[in-house]
Amino acid sequence: MKKIIANFKMNLLKDEINSYINEIASADFNNKSVVFCPSSIYLNDFVEKGFLTGSQDISIFEKGSYTGEISGAQLDSLGVMYTIIGHSERRMNFDDSELVPMKIKNAINNDLKPILCVGETLIERNNGTVNAVLEREIDEAFSLINNVDISNVIIAYEPIWSIGTNVILEVDLLNQIIKYIKDYVFSKYDVQIDVIYGGSVNLDNIEQLETADELDGYLVGGLSLDAVKFVELVNKIQ
Ligand code: PGA
Repeated sequence: MKKIIANFKMNLLKDEINSYINEIASADFNNKSVVFCPSSIYLNDFVEKGFLTGSQDISIFEKGSYTGEISGAQLDSLGVMYTIIGHSERRMNFDDSELVPMKIKNAINNDLKPILCVGETLIERNNGTVNAVLEREIDEAFSLINNVDISNVIIAYEPIWSIGTNVILEVDLLNQIIKYIKDYVFSKYDVQIDVIYGGSVNLDNIEQLETADELDGYLVGGLSLDAVKFVELVNKIQ
């Protein structure tokens, strides 16, 4: 079953969230796993209506005096099932890279499925170091968990230069990278892992992306903010 993760980032006001939920209420997501990741203050609006949800981040701490943080246990107690970890925007703006292993461990400890974001910058792509970057980010993320737990992680391959730019990789190349990630995780950790793609997924390129047979789903940013377009996108996914 394909997974489609809607990452709203820091967008939408409460009345826009209400309209969004009204719009998707009648949508038929049948054989797809559609996960909504709004700002944390709106997670419960989606949980209450029976939608799958994910947080956009998770604290490295369990509980206590950490003003502004949201713990894995709190998310789990709300009914949230997924958490995005290591998104490039957090790696760049909040120095998240070094926190990724602890966040992955905390998610697993609290029964949340981590969606681990990995991906290269344009400079790294031009330098030919894509595989090395992916291997490093994967190994770091898995450093505190065992192989059984690794099987609960979803990897989102998101080339940083493709996020919000309307530029995507040539689909054959993308398919090769997705396979490379799966083979790497299988050979090193003996785990078959789901790998999804993120970066400028839209109504114009989804049919092309759907020809990449290694893909297990998509992480959708900008387009997911428009409920009508998002439902249309989901309907185009097999
Ligand atoms: P985008 O964002 O779809 O707007 O490119 C994807 C992401 O950042 O996860």
